Amino acid sequence: MNLMNCDISAVLFDEFKIQTRIREIGLEISTEYKEKTPVLIGILKGGFIFMADLVRSISIPIEMDFLAISSYGAGTSSSGVVKIRKDIDIDINGRDVIVVEDIVDSGLSLQYIKDYLWQHKPNSLRTCVLLDKPAAHKIDVVFDYVGFEVKNEFVVGYGLDFAEKYRNLPYIGILKEELYL
Ligand code: IMP
Ligand code: MG
Repeated sequence: MNLMNCDISAVLFDEFKIQTRIREIGLEISTEYKEKTPVLIGILKGGFIFMADLVRSISIPIEMDFLAISSYGAGTSSSGVVKIRKDIDIDINGRDVIVVEDIVDSGLSLQYIKDYLWQHKPNSLRTCVLLDKPAAHKIDVVFDYVGFEVKNEFVVGYGLDFAEKYRNLPYIGILKEELYL
């Protein structure tokens, strides 16, 4: 019995569903980037488990790096203020880059990351997000690969946190509202 289960009101995507979808995305990336060696950039911390599973479902040579940006702190809504906490190490000038992010909520973080990475002059820049909350978008953000859509609810698990907890839940679930309202 997982001791965190009692904080979750509903399981949205179990381990099997997540792995099945990731294998599909991995296959798409492996096919579309066949002649290239893309650089996958995982966004910390939320994207670390997705990144770990996604790279193992890709069957072509890739390189990987990580970019850490500031999070919401202990809140559950976007501040819109994004800060780089750890920069990338690989020179992405002329490279084909794929950003790997946990979730798009307002879209502000991903837009900031894309603008930031374009300054490094990659040959191409695409984005792969595990979860999308279309009803929460505040800007017209575009991304290329998406795992699942979710409603405008606060979700945790599989890398996603609330106040740094629940990242180690093996599934994605809705956090009980009484825990943060
Ligand atoms: P955005 O800038 O509003 O799109 O927020 C994106 C970031 O906020 C994500 O990378 C997550 O780290 C975090 N976030 C947004 N929604 C959730 C959620 O439902 N659960 C956990 N983290 C979230
Ligand atoms: Mg994040």
